[in-house]
Amino acid sequence: MDRREFNKGLLATVANFALIDSLFAYNAFGSNIKPIATHWAIKLNEFCSDLKTESITANQWQKHIEELYAKIELNEILKFIDFNKLYKGFEYPDLGVNTRLVKFPTLTDLPEKTAFVKKVFGMKKDRAIIPHGHSNMASAHLILNGEMHLRHYEKVRQDQDNLIIKPTIDRIAKIGDSSSISDEKDNVHWFIANTETSFTFDVIMLDLNNKSYDIHNLDIHEKQDLSDGTLRVPILDVEKALKKYGKETHH
Ligand SMILES: [Fe+2]
Repeated sequence: MDRREFNKGLLATVANFALIDSLFAYNAFGSNIKPIATHWAIKLNEFCSDLKTESITANQWQKHIEELYAKIELNEILKFIDFNKLYKGFEYPDLGVNTRLVKFPTLTDLPEKTAFVKKVFGMKKDRAIIPHGHSNMASAHLILNGEMHLRHYEKVRQDQDNLIIKPTIDRIAKIGDSSSISDEKDNVHWFIANTETSFTFDVIMLDLNNKSYDIHNLDIHEKQDLSDGTLRVPILDVEKALKKYGKETHH
């Protein structure tokens, strides 16, 4: 091979590299190559969009979100939602809880207005997210701080001013644990803070099934055992409910 042929070959190779390079670049910016790992916030938003359009059931949504949370380092979530900042300025009410809206940083493929409402709920020790059921809603709750006594009930049916419910979960929820509600599963929930402060990160879907959402506060201490595994519990207005359940008194 003389020098001239060698140069020709080299140029061809360079040209091929350039071609491959530009093809790769083209693909990389096209839709054929997916990023190695989709950000959890994007996934969360996809699950919520899918629930809104009824591409998945509420039950599937609950499962997807809880599985997603189980895979993510809690620290990553705390940083992403800037929990430190939310925590610092937080004002704790004497009864019940306070909430603050969460803002996500900008991410490609994450719409500025997410398909869900996102909030942190914070409370002092012995304060509660009072017992309540929901209609046309789904929500998921991740413990960010503290420890809580968590109870859930299945909503069996509504009977005038009562909900007929069935206990499903009664446990201590710790940092990183999650839970969720929907019309399909574990509809009623009740959290009581066991530690000086407690916080949850909430993903909330309202007005599902193209109907307005509703919340039913429950007078759970007045439950009537129907002797078939279910309880009949009166629905309470929010003021009475907060007064009775917003702060636990120890005897
Ligand atoms: Fe709720």
